[in-house]
Amino acid sequence: VRKLKSIPKAQYGGRHTVTMLPGGGIGPELMEHVREIFRLGGMPVDFEVVNIDPHSDGNDDLEYLITSIKRNGVAIKGNIETGSLDTGIASRNVALRNELDLFVNVLKCKSYPGVPARYSDLDIIIVRQNTEGEYAMLEHESVHGVVESMKIVTAENSERVARFAFEYAKSHGRKRVTTIHKANIMKLSDGLFLETSNRVAKDYPNIAHNNMIIDNCCMQLVSNPHQFDVMNMTNLYGTIVSNVICGLMGGAGLLSGRNYGDHYAVFEPGTRNTGTSIAGKGIANPIAMLNAAVDMLEHLGHNTHAGILSDAIRKTVCDDKILTADLGGSASTKEVVNCIKKYVIEETSKMKWF
Ligand code: NAI
Repeated sequence: VRKLKSIPKAQYGGRHTVTMLPGGGIGPELMEHVREIFRLGGMPVDFEVVNIDPHSDGNDDLEYLITSIKRNGVAIKGNIETGSLDTGIASRNVALRNELDLFVNVLKCKSYPGVPARYSDLDIIIVRQNTEGEYAMLEHESVHGVVESMKIVTAENSERVARFAFEYAKSHGRKRVTTIHKANIMKLSDGLFLETSNRVAKDYPNIAHNNMIIDNCCMQLVSNPHQFDVMNMTNLYGTIVSNVICGLMGGAGLLSGRNYGDHYAVFEPGTRNTGTSIAGKGIANPIAMLNAAVDMLEHLGHNTHAGILSDAIRKTVCDDKILTADLGGSASTKEVVNCIKKYVIEETSKMKWF
């Protein structure tokens, strides 16, 4: 768990207050399950729920959300839907990450044994720059029919993310960091990212460092993913690689992602999609959101509760094989959640404080 420079702020009587942003699509129904499981498990967290209207044309909601996260230090979120292309509203998800300077996204890609997948034994960490690159949202039409889009790469943020990747590798007993880039074409921008990673690597002589072009990386991931340990990359490659690996391991419904800055931490499903087409049908896989809740509990130092929830998830998925349709099963969201609840109640009732 990453230690932030400032300790999460809102804590009253051993409980933490965490901002909860249900977002759009399947977010609200999954957050209901998170809240119910936290209630049943006596998890020491109170949620401050903040809703954002995707159709509002101002940023008041977003400002309120950012103030709430700054106050609480920690948030769990679904994806905020971005209106259609012609609304001119920039992605509020991107704006949120920029405002809070959540410069790094970490995706722990560890297979769940027994889940039907292309590969069932992967263990890869993706460390992704989270605030710049192609996500700078600086696009304009210079003359009619010609659009320019700025990709921003800075030495400072490249260094922060590379150092995070190497520090992560060092503190988690990992052996190799692979930097992913397209410096053969984007010689200045990706060149700076690669050059910075090479420089940072010199401070970590016990961790091997290699680099790979993004196109080759995607091919290698599909054909021989076991060669990867910790991966370090820019923003856009990060989302593509995250989706490729999630696909190899069982899809969008399993993994969670962690966003960190020096002061704040935000937890969410790893692929960040809204799942709008399956919203309200009771068939969404709740595991990715519940894993985000586990990450959040760990981050707050509530390790016992985090362990109870992650064990309940593992037993449900790997032992009982109660799986939603995206994982080849036939269970509804509720059936998966009920099984997890059963294990959470079983374990918490054994605790001395209950
Ligand atoms: P989507 O939300 O349509 O999901 C892709 C596929 O995964 C769909 O078949 C969906 O049913 C399935 N899926 C997703 N979550 C699931 C779950 N919990 N359980 C079961 N199945 C699940 O993804 P799409 O089209 O990529 O994005 C929709 C919205 O999300 C867009 O507005 C996009 O901007 C946003 N988004 C997507 C990201 C991505 O990496 N895919 C990243 C950031 C935003």
